[in-house]
Amino acid sequence: MQTRVLKPTEEAIAEAAQLLRQGELVAFPTETVYGLGANALDPEAVPKIFAAKGRPNDNPLIVHIGTLEAVQPLCYVDERARALMNAFWPGPLTILLPKKPIIPAVTNAGLPSVAIRMPSHPVALKLLRACGVPVAAPSANTSGRPSPTTAAHVLDDLNGKLSLILDGGACDVGVESTVVDMTAKVPTIVRPGGITLEMLQTVLSDARVADSVMRPLRKDEKAVSPGMMYRHYAPKGQLTLVKGGPDRVREVCQRLYTQAVADGKKTRVLVLEEHAPLYDGCETLTIGSLERPESIARELFAALRRMDDEEVQVMLCEAVPSEGIGLAIMNRMYRAAAFHVLEV
Ligand code: TXA
Ligand code: MG
Repeated sequence: MQTRVLKPTEEAIAEAAQLLRQGELVAFPTETVYGLGANALDPEAVPKIFAAKGRPNDNPLIVHIGTLEAVQPLCYVDERARALMNAFWPGPLTILLPKKPIIPAVTNAGLPSVAIRMPSHPVALKLLRACGVPVAAPSANTSGRPSPTTAAHVLDDLNGKLSLILDGGACDVGVESTVVDMTAKVPTIVRPGGITLEMLQTVLSDARVADSVMRPLRKDEKAVSPGMMYRHYAPKGQLTLVKGGPDRVREVCQRLYTQAVADGKKTRVLVLEEHAPLYDGCETLTIGSLERPESIARELFAALRRMDDEEVQVMLCEAVPSEGIGLAIMNRMYRAAAFHVLEV
């Protein structure tokens, strides 16, 4: 199959909507990352997503909608979930709710819940409104790789596996949506993302973060959000996260850098903009600014992909504080590093 990349003109969006209605796959930009979409209600179309990504079929998909009315046939919405929708949709929040029978098992892995989100990217909204069906869409990467934040990333992973990519430029948020479980006793973030805990708590003060978010799964433990598997978002080389006071972190990164280079390994230190000047003599890559952590979220996946393109074998990465959007950044970094963390 030939994969075309089109600018999101009215005609291109209309064509993409038509392809979705016909049961084909289309990749499209959202404010978080690019999504790989199929008609969520078509049990023949959805399996194509799993095949293209090489995604295990026990990992449920997020169903995307373009209007508030579209939510009603899909799931049961209580007052508290409604309050979240009013506050954060369209936007980077995914809500887990009890599903209605219309959801085919292939879409939500046969679970009692379904994940619903209304993205805010204008191209995504236009597409969802034009196609008139809910669209199941995971991130448009090969399973396990860093999520795509540009159309070029999608093409790198999935060329030949879908007919059309709408190219809406680079994504603004850069990490995926926050997934909040509204079927739990207390609203629980099972994947941190674009909407922070602090933001959620302005609407639901009892909202909390699942403790599995910042640690590997225990043996035999079932993931609340199956996508938060052990190694994920991972570059091909070995990534080590280094956590602690800035001076100690720099010392340890420089020592490990020197060692790895002496072992003949292609090595980079992934550093915060503010610290870059301190790493004299090391090859570094700046991952954004501590002052503006949204910039780290925006750059992170592209930086990890760049490490693969440059065939870097050893990466040492400065950790960031786990507050606000930092929680989502660290959640992805931990998994990209397969929980290889040095506390110094
Ligand atoms: O920002 C995003 O959410 C992007 C864009 C494309 O919208 N999508 C995305 O989808 O990140 P995906 O499939 O890569 O991640 C969906 C996450 C997975 O961790 C999955 O296990 C979880 O949501 N999830 C989906 N449905 C669920 C359900 N019913 N119960 C528990 N977790 C669910
Ligand atoms: Mg994903």
